[in-house]
Amino acid sequence: MKTNFPEPSHEAMQHSLSLIDLIKQKILKQNAPIPFNEYMKQVLYAPGLGYYSGGSHKIGPEGDFITAPEISPIFAACLARQCQQIIQLLPQAIIMELGAGLGTLAVDLLLELELLHSLPFEYWILEPSAELKQRQILQFKHRCPHLLNKVKWLDELPSQDFAGLILGNEVIDALPVSRFSIKDSQTVELGVDFDGQKLQWAEISSPNSLLVEKVKRIQDILGPLPEGLCSELNPYLFEWLAAISKHLKQGAMLWIDYGYPRSSYYHASRSSGTLMCYYRHHAHSDVFLYPGLQDITSHVDFTALAEAGLASGFKLEGYISQAMFLINSGLSNILEKKPMDISEQAKLKKLLSPQQMGEVFKVMALSRNMEAKLIGFANMQEVHKL
Ligand SMILES: C[S@@+](CC[C@H](N)C(=O)[O-])C[C@H]1O[C@@H](n2cnc3c(N)ncnc32)[C@H](O)[C@@H]1O
Repeated sequence: MKTNFPEPSHEAMQHSLSLIDLIKQKILKQNAPIPFNEYMKQVLYAPGLGYYSGGSHKIGPEGDFITAPEISPIFAACLARQCQQIIQLLPQAIIMELGAGLGTLAVDLLLELELLHSLPFEYWILEPSAELKQRQILQFKHRCPHLLNKVKWLDELPSQDFAGLILGNEVIDALPVSRFSIKDSQTVELGVDFDGQKLQWAEISSPNSLLVEKVKRIQDILGPLPEGLCSELNPYLFEWLAAISKHLKQGAMLWIDYGYPRSSYYHASRSSGTLMCYYRHHAHSDVFLYPGLQDITSHVDFTALAEAGLASGFKLEGYISQAMFLINSGLSNILEKKPMDISEQAKLKKLLSPQQMGEVFKVMALSRNMEAKLIGFANMQEVHKL
């Protein structure tokens, strides 16, 4: 793919070449292409070299993309009201945030919960990126050192039972996915090969059986997928969610991300799938551009996420657009108290507008051993679309 994207520095380019070398070695060692989910895992998380494990600026104006908590603190202020409702229902409620990015949501959320006299017992952050963890700590030290005693950075999943809330904004879209296509009515798994000069797409000779099984199930439900369709699927979503939520004995999970219900995800009109790359605020589809220097994401299949939650013993509490979630969670009350200038209004519009993040971003709530009508999902639920 020919691009006019900004050139990486010499140092960044060396970093990317080292990662390409690592991937090449993996392909050569097995003398066959590696599955795409393995490629995605390496380019995002290979120790010291992957996009999230390396030192590059990722989120914000100097990085590659921007997320809702970085756009406007109103996002956290609304979310805080939903958290408050759950915290008040549970004894010693703990919030566990996955993939906290720059830490902005964590800081804004805790400051707002403090104002609402509803601080959680503790706030845990599970962040696989050492670089982002350092930025989170710095942001806490800079903006609210008095709340640091509430925060615990986890190096691994918790081993003790807890009550509370698991929270993730744009985390599930960062999990490695398999890529497949439908050829002669069969599921073909796609992977990555090295042709002597560059990385390129290739077919995997024996596809992952779990992937094939899950694509078959999709077709049992939706009917045959169109010939030639290429798309993504995370075969390990169920086990990932089960592991993440194993010790949440009472409470809820809130997942915020861009995605679709299954019927829309695998619709003929989306025949090239949902893979998307972000490099210095350019969104494009070339997954081989500067490995390790760009983010690669896929949209979330929210039907699969709901099913994964049900399989782990959760109840589906709600599925709604981000805009409606923010409105239900007290947006107008917050705005009455916090008048905004024109630039803040434009940022809020980005979160709410159906053409920007208001519609394609969804919020899903799953609960376990907790009875509540969650405020964020009170009106305009979209569960029927799943
Ligand atoms: C797109 S960023 C979103 C960051 C932040 N939540 C925000 O909204 O700005 C994805 C985040 O998920 C983290 N992440 C990726 N895989 C993860 C996993 N398996 N568990 C927890 N966090 C993960 C990344 O390190 C990064 O912090």
